[in-house]
Amino acid sequence: MRSLILLLATVLCLSPTSARQQTDPRRDAVDHRVDSLLSLMTLEEKVGQLVQYAAKVQGRGDTARLQEEHALLVRSGKVGSFLNAVGASLNRDIQSIAMTRSRLKIPLLFGYDVIHGFRTVFPIPLAEASTWEPDLIQKAARVAAIEASSAGIHWTFAPMVDIARDPRWGRIAEGSGEDPLLGSLMAAARVRGFQGESLTQTDALLACAKHYAAYGGAEGGRDYNTVDISERTLREVYLPPYEAAVRAGVGTLMCSFNEIAGVPSSGNRRLLTDILRGEWKFDGFVVSDWGSIGEMQRHGVAGTLAQAAALAITSGVDMDMEAGAYHEHLVELVRTGKVPPQVLDESVRRVLRTKFRLGLFDDPYRGADPAREKKVLLAPEHRKLAREVARRSMVLLKNSRALLPIAKNGTVALIGPLADNREDLLGCWSGRGRGEDVVTVREGMEHALGRAGSLLYARGCTIDTADRSGFPEAVEVARKASVAILVLGEAALMSGEAASRSSLALPGVQEELVRAVAATGVPVVVVLMNGRPLTIGNIEESAPAILEAWAPGVEGGNAVADILFGEYNPSGRLPVTFPRSVGQVPLYYNHKNTGRPPQANERFTSKYIDIDITPLYPFGFGLSYTTFEYSGLSVTAPVARVGDSLTVSVTVRNTGKIPGEEVVQLYLQDVVASVTRPVRELKAFRKVALPPGGEQRVDFTVTPEMLAFYNLSMQRVVEPGQFNIYVGGNARDLQSISFRFDGP
Ligand code: GLC
Repeated sequence: MRSLILLLATVLCLSPTSARQQTDPRRDAVDHRVDSLLSLMTLEEKVGQLVQYAAKVQGRGDTARLQEEHALLVRSGKVGSFLNAVGASLNRDIQSIAMTRSRLKIPLLFGYDVIHGFRTVFPIPLAEASTWEPDLIQKAARVAAIEASSAGIHWTFAPMVDIARDPRWGRIAEGSGEDPLLGSLMAAARVRGFQGESLTQTDALLACAKHYAAYGGAEGGRDYNTVDISERTLREVYLPPYEAAVRAGVGTLMCSFNEIAGVPSSGNRRLLTDILRGEWKFDGFVVSDWGSIGEMQRHGVAGTLAQAAALAITSGVDMDMEAGAYHEHLVELVRTGKVPPQVLDESVRRVLRTKFRLGLFDDPYRGADPAREKKVLLAPEHRKLAREVARRSMVLLKNSRALLPIAKNGTVALIGPLADNREDLLGCWSGRGRGEDVVTVREGMEHALGRAGSLLYARGCTIDTADRSGFPEAVEVARKASVAILVLGEAALMSGEAASRSSLALPGVQEELVRAVAATGVPVVVVLMNGRPLTIGNIEESAPAILEAWAPGVEGGNAVADILFGEYNPSGRLPVTFPRSVGQVPLYYNHKNTGRPPQANERFTSKYIDIDITPLYPFGFGLSYTTFEYSGLSVTAPVARVGDSLTVSVTVRNTGKIPGEEVVQLYLQDVVASVTRPVRELKAFRKVALPPGGEQRVDFTVTPEMLAFYNLSMQRVVEPGQFNIYVGGNARDLQSISFRFDGP
């Protein structure tokens, strides 16, 4: 088929980085300063800039100090960055060693994992993605930057932008789910939020898109496991969020632990140089993941640590986190010609350029302000935003007989291992969050109920033991109540790094607790607090109402109460598919049709003989306390030609009695192409707020870029043919219309 090759990079705006390279006088000034400094540096000092260690600190609080072993490295210019040194006083102290005791007084870069908040902990990133509100999440990242920078942090190892299609993988909690568009928009929003208007701002936090690349594609959902995907899947599913982060101006990337098709990312020149720098024009620097350079020996592509160091730096890894590979071997590798000096110099330039861009040479102590640290951490306005993000992130999965919202004048039974829990509401990677900061669900509901109603509490069971001794008490409080709220789910560290699960069921005996309470006849509301999709089919029939609250952060209890009592009408939508069984995994909405798509009554089709092939809840799904109706789906023309942009319009109406928000989603399908295409792909969405009875005509512009894909030759093309447009409130319940693209 004649395919129209759209040189999309020319059709679309040039990447901002390349524009900056051509015309930015500020960049030239920085480069001049970098080159001047570079010319003064010894080989050892150059290598030192590429070395990062987790700071070895003795003492705590105001008495914390860098241990002598690391202080010596600073004085001798053999380390350029520390991670996990946190606190304005400590970091000022460490920085002063560099600024007063080292030869060239090159400022240190302090990095830390500020993933979803620093001290004010927001919902986990998967929850933030459930808001489908990038602008809101940008604000959350901005708050995180304000707090972390006041504690002397310059650099966060975030956003984590890995697409995840397998909920067994614990790190699905840290990303934005299964979709490249939603993931890209969230990645860019977080980069803008962290980095602010200018990196020289004292409250700017250098961002780091990670884990480059395709870390979420681990076989079996087992962390650190092999990733073996096609170039097309890499390009169309896993890479877009990293590219979006680069286009948003992210200052650094972190390479991933995994291999892709035989090549570990820490030694993958095609990924780290050809694509990242050649195609995307990225001009920041790349840091390895923790020890990942050294792990290339275990991968079996380096026989020694020195060989791993040479492979990494010549592939494009600029800074070595914690492997000691650069610290121990890079000087000798350059001296013996195994690593060209210009390769070393270019990596050093990237790191120094970043430090200049951060303003560290003008103010090495930027942001690190003990007084400000005390003032901004957990500031009321930060908690207020955390509550707003939390309630907007929650997804109403079921609400039979409109059980929710519940009245405040009854007796409510509050049961479950996460009902009066603090630490686990913070979720994985909770930075400097503290359990004492958390508003529990019990506190949130007691506060909301006030004197109007009464709350009876029983834990019922633990999160993951087989102890059923609390069941009788739980049943007893349920019998005295008009409704039972069961807060169930996972412990914080049951998701996140090294937390893959072979089962997606509620851990322990929580499912049994639901059945025991439901057997009393009291209506049951299940509130889930978890870091991944769970298979909750076993409790689905016992619970007329189910709210997905994820790990909701410091304000989780208030946010849950806001929704349960109707202060806020839930508007979250799933960024990941909820399977019926772990046996269906991987299960994602933008799948291929296959030659034998599943047909319920057709034996020889692609399905399971023991379970319904469809998900329990589809991507994009979420209910509201009101209802919405779609009508008048139209497209401006049934035929389009190259360069045309079409407008797709639909009317959404709030057919209920209370205000609500709907996420109108637009999906496209290329029906026939030179390679197989997904049955649908999210191409745009709009969250609209509507009063009862109100309606809005929503217009989407369909551009050539939305139709493009990688053809047999891996060129990005748009091919003529029929395209189906799907519009609706999730990836399943959709209205459709078609148009034909005729090419030039
Ligand atoms: C960890 C994680 C990475 C994190 C880094 C520093 O192993 O993979 O996400 O940023 O080490 O803590």
